[in-house]
Amino acid sequence: MNSPAPALVIRPVEAADLGQVIAIDAESTRIEKTDYWYELFHRFGTGRTRQRLFLVAEADNAIQGFVIGEVRDWEFGSPPCGWVFAINVRPGARLAGLGTKLLEAVCTGFRRASVATVRTQVSRDNNLVLSFFRSQGMMAAPVITLERSLD
Ligand SMILES: CC(C)(COP(=O)(O)OP(=O)(O)OC[C@H]1O[C@@H](n2cnc3c(N)ncnc32)[C@H](O)[C@@H]1OP(=O)(O)O)[C@@H](O)C(=O)NCCC(=O)NCCS
Repeated sequence: MNSPAPALVIRPVEAADLGQVIAIDAESTRIEKTDYWYELFHRFGTGRTRQRLFLVAEADNAIQGFVIGEVRDWEFGSPPCGWVFAINVRPGARLAGLGTKLLEAVCTGFRRASVATVRTQVSRDNNLVLSFFRSQGMMAAPVITLERSLD
């Protein structure tokens, strides 16, 4: 008989999760950024505000993925909206609906903070992440990002 699928819990990150979060990020980006993740934990992971969310998905006593989001008010004249600026699922746990659940969890947090729009930013050539967000109904926003080299 098949064993039942391990229960999945999506909850705020804890300090003890950071090693696994750093490993999941390093596996997909190929850059280990320990200091960066500890800094993010202090800014987003302490649960002091509804505006900032750092959530992890845990199953089988292991972190399977995470999402980070923040409500930003009136930046560049834009009404308050929720920004997702990191989402990542452990490669072995992908394509099983976990990314969808993480995005929904952070959107639930945004709704609690009374915002009605969710935004993110994706590299034009990141087909995987673009496909994911498109599958979630996200489309090009009425804003553009501009940049130039400072050299
Ligand atoms: C994007 C990501 C979060 C998706 O997580 P996931 O758990 O696999 O997503 P889901 O299973 O919920 O997939 C939802 C939909 O996204 C799309 N999708 C997901 N992976 C895809 C892929 N490899 N190719 C095409 N479409 C894909 C599909 O439409 C999928 O729906 P379907 O399974 O019914 O076809 C995950 O692939 C990931 O972590 N990628 C690396 C992200 C990264 O580099 N982050 C660093 C910068 S923030």
